[in-house]
Amino acid sequence: MSTADAQQRVLSGMRPTGRLHLGHYHGVLKNWIKLQHEYECFFFVADWHALTTHYGDATLFEENVLEMVIDWLAVGVNPGSAALFAQSRIPEHSELHLLLSMITPLGWLERVPSYKDQQEKLKEKDLDTYGFLGYPLLQAADILIYRAGYVPVGADQVAHVELTREVARRFNHVYGREPGFEENAEAAVRKMGKKAAKLYTQLRTAYQEQGDHEALEKAQALLKEQQNISIGDRERLYGYLEGGGKMILAEPQSLLTPASKMPGLDGQKMSKSYDNTISLREDLEQVSSKISTMPTDPARVRLTDPGDPEKCPVWQLHQTYSDQETQEWVVAGCKSAGIGCLECKKPIIEAVVEELEPIQKEAQQYEKDRDLVRSILVEGSERARESAKETLAEVRTAMGLSNW
Ligand code: TRP
Ligand code: SF4
Repeated sequence: MSTADAQQRVLSGMRPTGRLHLGHYHGVLKNWIKLQHEYECFFFVADWHALTTHYGDATLFEENVLEMVIDWLAVGVNPGSAALFAQSRIPEHSELHLLLSMITPLGWLERVPSYKDQQEKLKEKDLDTYGFLGYPLLQAADILIYRAGYVPVGADQVAHVELTREVARRFNHVYGREPGFEENAEAAVRKMGKKAAKLYTQLRTAYQEQGDHEALEKAQALLKEQQNISIGDRERLYGYLEGGGKMILAEPQSLLTPASKMPGLDGQKMSKSYDNTISLREDLEQVSSKISTMPTDPARVRLTDPGDPEKCPVWQLHQTYSDQETQEWVVAGCKSAGIGCLECKKPIIEAVVEELEPIQKEAQQYEKDRDLVRSILVEGSERARESAKETLAEVRTAMGLSNW
């Protein structure tokens, strides 16, 4: 597949944290489910990334991977459309990581904001390691090995995608200039046949001389249609179009996942570390009791004390789960002390239970049959490896390494 086709690919990874919660569902997973219908998707468990910070606890790794993937499957991430796999089963990621490390300045890694932040936050761990410094470069390899065009990530990961772009640009700059690039590109132009060659040349001139972006897009579309040229020539022609060398690695864009509006039980962000989560496979009785005991506007000590939804985490849940009518009922009832907090929570409990029931039912079949989950991951890795191998072969060639 050429670089430009691959740019319609979406790739994202998640560290294996075990069972997922409603925050993951409303933030990340629903977005994945939508994307899987629109793009070719690769979703993977970043188990090597987990090792960079949790290199001590070997026992839970496989368990955490399977538990997390069970949740992906249960909510509707579909292995028939997206390739699902574990990073550590694709050795190509690590080889690309190694090769990219040769051209990545140390300063680029030291400057990534999460580097110092995480070292501060996880003080009890020794993160003065080579692997931890390389964390964002490993992520760059994850992305570049599939030549993914779009990377759905949260705001904290945008800097990593930015680094990925810089690394790709540097790689293309250093290795995309094969000797005789211009001559090879001109020869490739001729291979397209007279008509297409003429059109390509006109469009290229329009883009390079007048910055005509429409011409650029037309020329890219033209290249995509060509049946008779090799992958290598196609990459040359894409690069030649934009004035650079051969484009071997593609620069991805981040698709910013909007921060989930789903608050935790205490109104802070839902997160395991705050102990305020409702997990997707939480016992439904427990769900009900967790929501019933959620804090509300502290002004409502007695039933007759009016409150303000803006000061209440339950209101944030209504914004995710309730229709207009219910929301109006909440605002009016809260401000006038017309309803009690327990009454106000009832529709939320019902909605969450209704949401979780089918997910839990779906999860059951995978819980009973972990081999099925494993085989889904094996099948996903086979698909992923095919693309990874293609990219790696080109990278090796570009760097002067052999491919036999
Ligand atoms: N670093 C990401 C996180 O902590 C996980 C991740 C690893 C990732 N490789 C990736 C995300 C590649 C997107 C693309 O959430
Ligand atoms: Fe919160 Fe509802 Fe109670 Fe108002 S009535 S404080 S919105 S739980």
